[in-house]
Amino acid sequence: MTDDVLVVHGGTPLNGQIRVRGAKNLVSKAMVAALLGDSPSRLFDVPRIRDVEVVRGLLELHGVKVTDGAEDGELVFDPANVESASTDEINVHAGSSRIPILFCGPLLHRLGHAFIPDLGGCHIGPRPIDFHIQALRQFGAVVDKTPEGMHLTAPTGLHGTKFELPYPSVGATEQVLLTAVLAEGVTELRNAAVEPEIIDLICVLQKMGAIIKVHTDRVIEIQGVARLSGYTHRPIPDRIEAASWAAAALATGGRVEVLGAEQADMMTFLNVFRSVGGAYEVTDTRPPRVDSPGQEGGIRFWHPGGELRAVALETDVHPGFMTDWQQPLVVALTQARGLSIVHETVYEQRLGYTDALNKMGATIQVYRDCLGGTPCRFGRRNFKHSAVIAGPAKLHAADLVIPDLRAGFSHLIAALAAEGTSRVYGVDLINRGYEDFEAKLSALGAHVERP
Ligand code: EPU
Repeated sequence: MTDDVLVVHGGTPLNGQIRVRGAKNLVSKAMVAALLGDSPSRLFDVPRIRDVEVVRGLLELHGVKVTDGAEDGELVFDPANVESASTDEINVHAGSSRIPILFCGPLLHRLGHAFIPDLGGCHIGPRPIDFHIQALRQFGAVVDKTPEGMHLTAPTGLHGTKFELPYPSVGATEQVLLTAVLAEGVTELRNAAVEPEIIDLICVLQKMGAIIKVHTDRVIEIQGVARLSGYTHRPIPDRIEAASWAAAALATGGRVEVLGAEQADMMTFLNVFRSVGGAYEVTDTRPPRVDSPGQEGGIRFWHPGGELRAVALETDVHPGFMTDWQQPLVVALTQARGLSIVHETVYEQRLGYTDALNKMGATIQVYRDCLGGTPCRFGRRNFKHSAVIAGPAKLHAADLVIPDLRAGFSHLIAALAAEGTSRVYGVDLINRGYEDFEAKLSALGAHVERP
């Protein structure tokens, strides 16, 4: 752990320009989709992050040839020789990411069997996979959960089905999409997630030859086809990373232009950012989704001076305020005058990181009640999922240990906003989802160093 530490000399506003690439939560799924094609796929703007490495490793283990394309960030996937991998080899990736669960459908289609290692990902609640397993069973998969991982077979093939999700889970929606596209017959998914990353995955699958209808009221209908080909795709930009830098600009009193950030996918965030007292300007003058890498603008975010204002916000599925935007923004809320309320309704344990902010001088109290909004699934249960943030608070330096990806970034922001020198341990975890974050910090004028 001692070499996995960043020394942060805080108190300097972040100023400058950085660029975000393809969204982690789309890129990793599009990579899995490449398994479904019978010809090579080409994905642009792939960030160099740990989750991409994990998925690349798993694809290669299953015989997919992955090569770098001509453009920086371009990957080419050739699935001509998909083959089985040994459980020992697959288990090397155990605990490293949650994406492997999405290999179920594609591997069942390509090989007739699949082995999925124990999942990893951030520790932000129990993160069950019951919806995934129920859906796969309805498609006809036989799922055998063992201590070493999950074995799946499809003795009579995979068949279209009707399935209603108890909650619009992003991962379970993706699971159904990646399985239904080659299943025999029609699949109807109700209460589906409709995040921009899901719509972009549907675009990828449609390019491959899938027939997918997105109806109103969270209903998605997929007509299975006999074969899919490869795709060429430039993903939507990472709206979580963009919001993280926006929050960093606000909390440090700086000005950051996030090249590549797209207004349409960030509308809810932008409304809250403005309500808090942050300023932004959309510098991208192209119509949405136009490809011209290197030429684009993005969104410039800054602290216009004066006091920030307290807000009440509730995280929710799209088009609500993303749960992953919550932790970075809370650091800025510690600087707002009055009482801010945050009600986390997507994950039951995503406020633990506030202890570290309190250690740095913030005043944040967490509650089991559903505060400030509509009652959610976690109300009257034993989950501290609402927070009241009293501000403005003067943050001071501290030694911090990063608990998970997004909370980790919020720790970094807090250290940058605080007076004095903080040591942030476990920073390598941030490489799971933020490309070159140390180089970007330096480019924005942050005083950070490895000891
Ligand atoms: N859930 C179940 N059962 C399931 C699946 C989900 O109860 O079988 C519950 C979860 O426990 C959670 C809720 O449903 O309370 C939502 O989970 P969801 O399945 O939507 O999340 P996910 O697919 O595991 C993705 C992102 C997360 C992001 C969420 C919500 C990826 C790889 N991860 O997770 O991103 O927070 O959707 O938008 O796409 C991150 O990037 O740091 C991250 C955690």
